[in-house]
Amino acid sequence: MFNFHTFRYALNSLEILTKRCSLRIRKIHSLAATYKPYCKSSNKLYSQTPSEYYSGLQKNSFFETEDKQIATNINMTSTSTGDGTWGWLGVDEDLGREAEPNEFVRLPEDKINETKYKSLTNAAHCMVYAENSEKVFGIYKIRAAVLMQLRYDGYFGFPGGLLDQGEDSVTAVNRELVEEMNFDTATHKITNDDYVVSHWSEKKQLVLHFYKFKVTVDELVEIEKRALLAHDYGGEVLGTVRVPLYTMGDKYRGFPLFLSHKFIGCSRNQLLATLLKFNIFTAEEIQSVLNASSGDRSILL
Ligand code: GTP
Ligand code: MN
Repeated sequence: MFNFHTFRYALNSLEILTKRCSLRIRKIHSLAATYKPYCKSSNKLYSQTPSEYYSGLQKNSFFETEDKQIATNINMTSTSTGDGTWGWLGVDEDLGREAEPNEFVRLPEDKINETKYKSLTNAAHCMVYAENSEKVFGIYKIRAAVLMQLRYDGYFGFPGGLLDQGEDSVTAVNRELVEEMNFDTATHKITNDDYVVSHWSEKKQLVLHFYKFKVTVDELVEIEKRALLAHDYGGEVLGTVRVPLYTMGDKYRGFPLFLSHKFIGCSRNQLLATLLKFNIFTAEEIQSVLNASSGDRSILL
């Protein structure tokens, strides 16, 4: 059973784990610092060396070149900086897996402090926005400049993140906005009055609190500029974007198209619910945007 290759590979894995754990230690919170295979079939990684594993991959597959590169990187981990972490998933990364339809449900405000929910993983995010009465091309009403982010995992989402141990959600959302957007809390502070809604997922054992923060257009421009200098910019945060809230003449481009992207957690719902709650959209307008978004574009044209 025991041979030098498996032993060396175990050592490599341990080294990867140690590096990842030390990087993510602040984020791990109460969760055990253990890592597990990305999917069940990857337990192959335990019983085969990386080259054995990759040589077994189908020839001429779409991923062949990339796979070889990854295999090379994994083999290099003992001597180089290739991170070789493909196939491994940190415990808290499970939270970011694609949500099933209706996975997140509303958590009424009076239940938030119940031990059942407080003892789960909690996170807080925020929609920073400015109302804007201008028009794009003199035609499409901007309504509001709403900030979202492209995240490291490819999803769109709001700035924010996991609560530290013992931290409340409003403190966490301010801290995360400093980290992810270089938010100036000396001039802008999110308060309990900005709280909007909470949701939870039984499957992910995750509770998500949501805040809004309204500023002027000029302030928003400053926030956008500062965000480029944020600690997490270029790492966890790949960019701040304004959401197009108008629907173009083809009844698809603009907001409906934007909503057809992939969104983390229930952030798509948080966006729509907050636009509705703060009267940027009426319920009818939201409904027609949703119809256009899920509809077949060729029929709508
Ligand atoms: P990581 O620990 O690296 O993920 O960073 P973080 O502390 O900044 O946490 P993150 O913002 O990723 O939020 C933690 C979890 O909350 C994610 O794994 C998602 O499941 C969920 N999440 C992230 N962003 C949003 C968002 O904008 N809205 C909602 N509803 N959920 C989100
Ligand atoms: Mn975050």
